[in-house]
Amino acid sequence: MQGLFISFEGIDGAGKSTHIDALARAFEAQGRHVTLTREPGGTPLAEQLREMVLKAPMDAMTEALLVFAARRDHVQQVIRPALMRGDVVLCDRFSDASFAYQGAGRGFDWQMLETLESWVQGNGPTAAALLQPDVTVWFDLPPAVAATRLAGARVPDKFESQPEAFFEQVASGYARRQQSAPARFARINADQTPDAVRQEVLQALNQRGWLTP
Ligand code: TYD
Repeated sequence: MQGLFISFEGIDGAGKSTHIDALARAFEAQGRHVTLTREPGGTPLAEQLREMVLKAPMDAMTEALLVFAARRDHVQQVIRPALMRGDVVLCDRFSDASFAYQGAGRGFDWQMLETLESWVQGNGPTAAALLQPDVTVWFDLPPAVAATRLAGARVPDKFESQPEAFFEQVASGYARRQQSAPARFARINADQTPDAVRQEVLQALNQRGWLTP
């Protein structure tokens, strides 16, 4: 069976986590082996880098280099091997998050991020060899709604404690990435009940023929 790579994106508070778990069960029910993973993280080294990125203050370039270093390890150790085995890889965030957070959010150079992406996800000299998700499920939610969801939910990390204006920027970064690869993105209206969101996610994957109803 052919491997399938799905990433999940959205601003903090968009509510991806519960849907990722539900999808893992849906794929398993169809006999698929699922690799459930996340970024930054997914390997022991990348999880250490995650701790630093989410806790330590640093400039935007340092942050970009660390998230892509974590991604390199994760791609080599986990994602590529899983896809080779024919797994369904469900990844809580991938490189679109670096464009949205480090690029649009923190103002790090977009082209530099594209260069890092081509190094880390490249598999040869051509852009066609770039490893990208087959589909990116983007939980789109107005930052004001996300802010009310995040308020009081738990102790916020470095990004979660940012003001709403930061998430406006991050959201614009996701929109820009969607515009540059519209076929890869499944935009989900996350401003609905969890059940309605779940239906939309399942529908998006059914439409692409990856999950049978
Ligand atoms: P998140 O995925 O929301 O995990 P949790 O549900 O445990 O909070 O947290 C990861 C954070 O890392 C999130 O705020 C976005 C940020 N991030 C980046 O800034 N750049 C990246 O490249 C990635 C993958 C994540």
